[in-house]
Amino acid sequence: MVKIFELENIISIKDFTRSDIDYILNEASTLENVAQSKEISEELKGKILGLMFFEPSTRTKMSFETAMKRLSGQCIGFENTGSSSVSKGESIADTAKMYEGYCDALVIRHELEGVSKFISDVVDVPVINAGDGAGQHPTQTLLDLYTIKKEIGNIDNIKIALIGDLKYGRTVHSLANALTLYDNVELYFVSPPELKMPQEILHDLDKVGMSYKEVSNISDIIDKVNVLYVTRIQKERFVDIEDYLKIKGAYIINKKMLEGKDLIVMHPLPRIDEIACDVDDTKYNKYFTQAANAVPIRMAILKTLIKNNPK
Ligand code: CP
Repeated sequence: MVKIFELENIISIKDFTRSDIDYILNEASTLENVAQSKEISEELKGKILGLMFFEPSTRTKMSFETAMKRLSGQCIGFENTGSSSVSKGESIADTAKMYEGYCDALVIRHELEGVSKFISDVVDVPVINAGDGAGQHPTQTLLDLYTIKKEIGNIDNIKIALIGDLKYGRTVHSLANALTLYDNVELYFVSPPELKMPQEILHDLDKVGMSYKEVSNISDIIDKVNVLYVTRIQKERFVDIEDYLKIKGAYIINKKMLEGKDLIVMHPLPRIDEIACDVDDTKYNKYFTQAANAVPIRMAILKTLIKNNPK
């Protein structure tokens, strides 16, 4: 049983050891009953979480709020800069310093890579990266790993295909990095040539000797994997809309192509059309469970960081 978690901030999954990940996953398991409202917890009573969402979010923001409230804490924050003094020109650093005075921890989502790290350097409360541009989304990865462990039973030895926008998709960047900590993982990257996994991530994998295969068609891997991790082609990351339109709909998973397969389908969501709705009522659908798993995982993160780093 892992006993120590020493990270003060959660900025990149690359800062985690395997035992850090085990710690959060184990803690999340112990909080399942509270997450599902079968038990009451007062672990974070009197604590306040600051939510700074410069970019839209449904799951990450709501699940952090739910997690904090399930532990009897409270939340403050904004979900668009129009409702904060950022719209009057206040700097991100000054805004974060204000939150530091009001909160016990900060959750940041921003369209620019590196903003959470920057804020963690200017405040003394724990900072959690809730997605920074095309960079990282470490708390999503923790809930992805939790889902794989619960659904498949292990993370070592999995055969997983990451599909879709691998260039700009922060969830697949974090997940690929995290999988380097596990043994005997078979990793496939499925994307159009324009959206291939960045060299920086491939370099991280090469450095630890992790093998992977890059392919362009789902049919190349569907009989080889036990997890299809599907992602959205992100319109908002394209400078030229014509480039987006050329690729949109390149990969669509439907019920017929899954029949008889021994695998699960995951997706960080939101989806547009990359998983047909006819998959929703099948045994393959684990993407809604995955989204629900955000609550125990984010409870574990908040409890650990706030209790380990009191103001
Ligand atoms: N998975 C995820 O980050 O979803 P949101 O953008 O809705 O938070």
